[in-house]
Amino acid sequence: MRNPHDLLDTVEWQEQTGNSLVCLNCHVDADDHIGAGGGLGNIFAFREEPATAQNATCLSCHGDTHPEFESSEHSLAGLTCASCHSQHSADESVASLLRLSMQSRDMLGFSGSSALCVDCHAGTASDFAFNERHRLTEGVLECTSCHDPHSRESFSLLGGFRQEQCAGCHSDKGGPFVFEHAASRVDGCTACHSPHGSPNRHMLTHQRVAELCYSCHAEVPQFHSGFNPVAPPRFGLDTQCVNCHVTIHGSNLDPVFLR
Ligand code: HEC
Ligand code: HEC
Ligand code: HEC
Ligand code: HEC
Ligand code: HEC
Ligand code: HEC
Ligand code: HEC
Ligand code: HEC
Ligand code: HEC
Repeated sequence: MRNPHDLLDTVEWQEQTGNSLVCLNCHVDADDHIGAGGGLGNIFAFREEPATAQNATCLSCHGDTHPEFESSEHSLAGLTCASCHSQHSADESVASLLRLSMQSRDMLGFSGSSALCVDCHAGTASDFAFNERHRLTEGVLECTSCHDPHSRESFSLLGGFRQEQCAGCHSDKGGPFVFEHAASRVDGCTACHSPHGSPNRHMLTHQRVAELCYSCHAEVPQFHSGFNPVAPPRFGLDTQCVNCHVTIHGSNLDPVFLR
């Protein structure tokens, strides 16, 4: 069985749905079409139908697994299921019926479902050209490791308060800790990291660590800046704050993350 919808072509499904032809599961209201021996305008053919009606057809069976689709960024932008899936011209990843996306695969090195994503998100693809990045083009991760194209992407899913996706793979960083770094707990991993990639060795949003810290911490203990008001600060922008604040993601031992 090559196409997953072949399942609709079994006697069990035909009895359950009352559709003698597999096509009628999607191309509904086809009595006139069949009566007239064909033609357009007398059958639900998707192309000319409003997006919501197209999606509703698919969701009548797939609504249980994709309940949030209508409130997703993709639906709000007017995409339909058929923007990404195709019953009739699927990728070799036939299990998910993904549309062909040869072009990006060839040009940018992405494969599988990620190639589909960068077809439309070329700007995001360039984030993965940095040396420090999640290794998508090597197949270690995919866009869908972090994003669900069918869902409304809440901040928490993207690495906010609960940080499900990030902490799912980087469990040591997610806590809970006795002493939380509020930046991580409240704003999430993306308060400090660019999740796709960045020029910084650890994918930080700033090239220099101190620059990142000072972007939030205007006040540091006096000994950090030194006691001589005319001398340059003791800890400047090139200081590796994390040489001392080693448990920057949170600590069970120390409220200022020294151990
Ligand atoms: C799982 C749902 C589904 C099934 C089953 C299905 N189709 Fe489709 N069909 C679509 C969608 C969605 C489109 C819109 C085009 C696309 O895939 O990009 C389409 C498009 C078409 C078109 C092109 C219509 C146009 O606008 O020019 C034809 C013709 C067609 N289907 C015939 C069939 C036939 C014949 C069958 C049965 C053998 C069938 N389809 C089964 C979903 C389905
Ligand atoms: C009559 C019910 C029905 C309709 C309508 C329907 N599907 Fe399906 N779909 C199924 C069943 C049953 C399967 C195979 C079992 C499964 O994997 O859930 C399936 C499988 C799939 C799969 C592969 C699932 C996987 O696990 O890889 C995709 C993708 C899919 N459908 C998308 C669509 C899209 C897009 C539409 C609308 C154009 C659509 N379906 C319309 C019932 C339906
Ligand atoms: C923006 C692109 C996009 C849109 C729009 C989209 N999908 Fe998907 N879909 C995907 C990708 C990518 C996968 C594969 C996910 C993976 O490999 O983790 C997938 C997987 C699936 C699957 C199988 C696995 C699963 O997650 O259950 C089904 C069923 C499915 N989609 C149905 C739909 C239906 C129905 C719609 C419209 C209501 C839709 N999709 C709209 C990209 C999309
Ligand atoms: C057919 C084109 C298309 C495809 C394919 C597509 N997207 Fe999108 N995506 C859009 C559009 C249009 C928007 C609406 C916002 C925008 O214009 O960026 C969007 C929005 C998003 C957003 C939210 C952006 C924001 O600023 O909040 C994310 C995240 C996203 N897509 C990820 C993905 C992923 C992951 C895939 C692959 C599974 C994918 N997209 C496939 C067209 C597409
Ligand atoms: C390691 C997890 C991860 C992977 C892999 C990933 N993303 Fe993201 N993406 C995120 C997070 C987290 C954000 C939110 C960024 C923020 O809020 O600053 C985001 C934001 C986005 C946005 C919104 C605009 C922007 O750049 O902020 C788009 C569009 C997007 N991602 C598309 C993609 C596409 C396409 C892929 C695959 C080529 C992908 N993402 C892979 C985690 C990821
Ligand atoms: C599917 C698993 C997965 C998810 C989800 C994931 N990562 Fe990663 N991450 C990895 C792997 C594997 C590496 C190792 C680097 C590589 O791929 O070469 C990595 C590397 C990193 C690095 C660089 C580590 C270093 O050596 O400096 C940072 C920072 C990072 N991830 C942050 C995040 C953030 C933030 C999120 C959520 C937005 C996230 N990751 C989601 C798997 C994941
Ligand atoms: C307050 C800023 C900040 C926040 C928030 C933050 N990080 Fe980091 N992260 C850093 C800094 C700074 C480094 C570099 C540490 C070093 O140089 O030793 C780093 C390094 C990393 C590394 C690579 C080094 C290692 O130990 O493997 C990973 C992976 C990582 N962070 C993941 C995450 C994840 C996942 C989250 C969210 C749960 C997160 N970070 C939240 C600042 C932050
Ligand atoms: C996104 C903003 C943000 C960034 C970036 C950030 N922090 Fe924080 N940090 C906070 C907040 C908010 C608190 C809690 C402060 C409070 O409760 O007064 C905190 C608390 C701390 C504390 C605990 C002491 C205290 O004031 O509660 C230390 C130490 C600390 N941060 C060091 C750092 C270092 C070092 C860096 C750079 C690697 C850094 N922070 C980056 C926002 C940030
Ligand atoms: C030589 C080690 C060292 C370096 C380097 C260092 N710190 Fe600290 N930091 C400390 C110690 C020790 C404390 C605790 C001071 C105390 O308890 O009075 C501290 C405390 C803090 C606090 C918490 C102040 C409070 O409200 O309790 C912040 C914020 C902070 N450092 C930020 C930074 C930043 C930003 C950098 C980099 C520019 C940095 N630190 C570099 C040792 C260091």
